[in-house]
Amino acid sequence: FNAQEFQQDLISWFEQEQRDLPWRVNKDPYRVWISEIMLQQTRVEAVKPYYKNFMEKFPTLTDLADAAEDEVLKAWEGLGYYSRARNLQAAVREVRDTYGGIVPNTPEEIGKLKGVGPYTKGAILSIAYDIPEPAVDGNVMRVMSRILSIWEDIAKPKTRQLFEDVIRQVISHDNPSYFNQGLMELGALICIPKNPSCLLCPVRQHCRAFHEGVQKELPVKSKA
Ligand code: ADE
Repeated sequence: FNAQEFQQDLISWFEQEQRDLPWRVNKDPYRVWISEIMLQQTRVEAVKPYYKNFMEKFPTLTDLADAAEDEVLKAWEGLGYYSRARNLQAAVREVRDTYGGIVPNTPEEIGKLKGVGPYTKGAILSIAYDIPEPAVDGNVMRVMSRILSIWEDIAKPKTRQLFEDVIRQVISHDNPSYFNQGLMELGALICIPKNPSCLLCPVRQHCRAFHEGVQKELPVKSKA
């Protein structure tokens, strides 16, 4: 497995094939943050209109921090999981009051914010700040379990850390943003759960599961 060639093929594909999504217009850390929180329990197509509306109502971190909670919850209505919205507003107020309104750019500081777990932390650091940190969710575990033929149970909480270690070994330091987004996009468009489109995959050359013909058996995901 050649990590550098894998990075190049993944990033070139992402440059050519990425979807036009409203949170990809610029890399404002606040905008990246909102999108990643919304995308945690809600599908891309469902998030789009909420994201656009939310950005019109609260275009900057300060707008959201200064808003009344009921206005924020109203804009969240329909997305569900309202604790996400409450935690988000508590966290942007913390950024306003502690960091002068600038989203911090270290894993330690950003990870302390309410509602910012390991995935969101890595997504903001890599996409907004070009810092080579892993952003591992279920999609990324599916893609990497196939690429490297990793048979650990992805339902086990511990397994995410193993994939974080794996990503640290293979992430591009030249373009960590496109590397992480490329993995997410590949998981959404090509390396899908059932019947992955391996013949269209830009990184099938690098995929151990494809070469072994076991792509449909991965990832291993226990039910209980
Ligand atoms: N799922 C999670 N994060 C995403 C992103 N930034 N773009 C598309 N899908 C995603």
